[in-house]
Amino acid sequence: MKKICLFFLFTITAVSFLSAQQTYQQEQKMNAFVKDLMSKMTVDEKIGQLNLVTPGGAVTGAVVSTDVDNKIRNGQVGGLFGINGPDQIRKAQDIAVKNSRLKIPIMFGLDVIHGHRTIFPIPLGLSCSWDMPLIEQGARIAATEAAADGLNWVYSPMVDIARDPRWGRIAEGSGEDTYLGSKIAAAMVRGYQGKDMAAKDAVMACVKHYALYGAAEAGRDYNTVDMSRIRMYQYYLPPYKAAIDAGVGSVMSSFNEVDGIPATGNKFLLTDVLRDQWGFKGLVVSDYTSVSEMINHGIGDLQQVSAQSLKAGLDMDMVSEGFLTTLKKSLQEGKVTQTEIDDACRRVLEAKYKMGLFDDPYNHCDEARAKTSILTDANRLAVRNAAEHSFVLLKNSNNVLPLKKSGTIALVGPLADNQRNMLGTWNIRGEYNEDITVLQGIKNVAGNDVNVLYAKGANISDDSMIVKNINDFAKEIDVDTRTPQQMIDEAVATANKADIVVACLGEAADFTGEAASMSDISLQQSQENLLAALVATGKPVVVVLFNGRPMTLNKEDKDAAAILDVWFPGTEAGNAIADVLFGNYNPSGKLTTTFPQNVGQIPLYYNHKNTGRPLNPGDGHKFKSDYLDVTNEPLYPFGYGLSYTNFNYSDPVLSKTTISGMEGLTVTVKVTNTGNYDGEEIVQLYLHDKVASITPPVKELKGFQKIFLKKGESKQVVFNINHSDLMFYNPDLKLIAEPGEFEVMTGPNSRDVKKVSFWLK
Ligand code: BGC
Repeated sequence: MKKICLFFLFTITAVSFLSAQQTYQQEQKMNAFVKDLMSKMTVDEKIGQLNLVTPGGAVTGAVVSTDVDNKIRNGQVGGLFGINGPDQIRKAQDIAVKNSRLKIPIMFGLDVIHGHRTIFPIPLGLSCSWDMPLIEQGARIAATEAAADGLNWVYSPMVDIARDPRWGRIAEGSGEDTYLGSKIAAAMVRGYQGKDMAAKDAVMACVKHYALYGAAEAGRDYNTVDMSRIRMYQYYLPPYKAAIDAGVGSVMSSFNEVDGIPATGNKFLLTDVLRDQWGFKGLVVSDYTSVSEMINHGIGDLQQVSAQSLKAGLDMDMVSEGFLTTLKKSLQEGKVTQTEIDDACRRVLEAKYKMGLFDDPYNHCDEARAKTSILTDANRLAVRNAAEHSFVLLKNSNNVLPLKKSGTIALVGPLADNQRNMLGTWNIRGEYNEDITVLQGIKNVAGNDVNVLYAKGANISDDSMIVKNINDFAKEIDVDTRTPQQMIDEAVATANKADIVVACLGEAADFTGEAASMSDISLQQSQENLLAALVATGKPVVVVLFNGRPMTLNKEDKDAAAILDVWFPGTEAGNAIADVLFGNYNPSGKLTTTFPQNVGQIPLYYNHKNTGRPLNPGDGHKFKSDYLDVTNEPLYPFGYGLSYTNFNYSDPVLSKTTISGMEGLTVTVKVTNTGNYDGEEIVQLYLHDKVASITPPVKELKGFQKIFLKKGESKQVVFNINHSDLMFYNPDLKLIAEPGEFEVMTGPNSRDVKKVSFWLK
């Protein structure tokens, strides 16, 4: 036995030595190649590599790059984004590798955020699956499709921790938690990049928006961020670092300022933390015009902000052309150094080398593959499965769900038969006419014994300002020619003919995403009126909620019989929703963001501090940290989500009650499926450091496991608690664990937990 172990140990050591050796050799080869290429480059050509342009229409801002073909020919373009398709990409690459002096290939990027052509649930939705293999597979499929469409580079994952649901971009990330967000960041990087970024089906990922973009004041997009270093290190930075530890090839700087300096020109972020502390060696790109936006921030003119960005550690300038037009002047005036330009250029060329573009500049331009690898049946099936796992059952009184596969269903609401709004924000290559509506999905899944009646019932919004703001960008709100009352009357008449009402309500796809902040996150008045009228019929009303953010749902929670949160489910929306409504899949998603009772509670998050005057159960209100007009509780807490079955949790049992040094321990909890359906459950583990030199949060997620239990089945779920789980950043920004008592909490969500304690000596 011992001999066998030694043999394996020897083999593993030898293999890892060999692969370290191979990596070293590959790096040496790359360094020699890039060095040789750079020795032939003029300063202008080097600066040209730092220029990232978009040839088509403006993507997310005003500036559109001009004269792109000529710039490529003149060696003034390092990368293009916003085009796709092997034919388009081949054309642009042709100019670079046939007509430019040094024939340096261009890299091609795109915002592939939740799928490429087969659109997955929005990232916030998918995060509610807490399912790392599923999330990794989602990124893998997106990479396969994007690469088949000619691309080498995707601007994802977006890992910004967000505690403010007013912020529209909360839809693009994985919610409020650092631990879960870090796991998801790593899974997505693995999925996109695979084992080798140069592979035919892999792309380089770009973690964004570095850093702290999700903490914009008042949830208003692009707004100021100001936070303590401790909060930054403890909660906001780890997901970016997790992506870097997973080998992400590139990082995108954010629009916001940090400590009074825009992130794009912030040396503390781009060099001190990213490169010096975390050892990142890859490429750093700005966000869309975030270099030139530093002029508006009040940092200086284009030459000044460009020089500052380069010196801070930025390599590539997206769209501003500040690098292209001013860096040479700054070099001549001694405002930047040749080494700074060389370092940035080297990192751009290294990225292209890792993408395999110097071996084959057309390595992703295979027209035949594009025809067979995109929007395949298998990809659609994967999306349907992913969507089902992302839904969160928020309420299900009297087990009204799952629906019977017989009788009459009144399917109502502005999102019930609405192809335009199933994909959610950021679906550049997604085609909404390829997705399945709820009406279609129910017809596909319900079988012949179900009679489905449909009525629209309301517009998504009747608020003219909202209709204009949304429809000026994308025609997502179809304003009916009938009056609101006529629509409601029709819906009520339809409901009266049915056994049950399924009301598809919520947001339009672009109520969230970039520049889509909302000061009121409740249902639009038009839909509240519809819901009230439906409830008044006395029929049970199941709300299927489409949303890119947590919403305030007090009324809906009171009035609806059931609420199934489906986020924006993607291409297979209707099929996935019908599968869950009829019980073909038992919902298992759990919230990754807190749902507040009202906007006044924001920011509201589960891992808050206790304060010196906490409001404990049974306390009177006076002189406590609370409100006069609302309790401190959320409507639905982080980690919450119901199932069609019930799960019973035992008390957690520890392997030890005292540990010392670097020792760890295990906690075991028995979970039993006591209901009537088989189902999946996400078992959660939280820790609370009772006394520490920095005020500890009331609890922090430190583990989770997704298990499947047949009805009546039990499982012992075992978690390891390691020394690193007990650590936090002290005032010197050192990660430490301090002796003392720790509470361990296990349960189905962050609120309903059972506790036990151990001591670290
Ligand atoms: C967004 C980025 C995006 C970029 C390129 C910006 O406005 O903030 O997330 O990757 O545009 O489209």
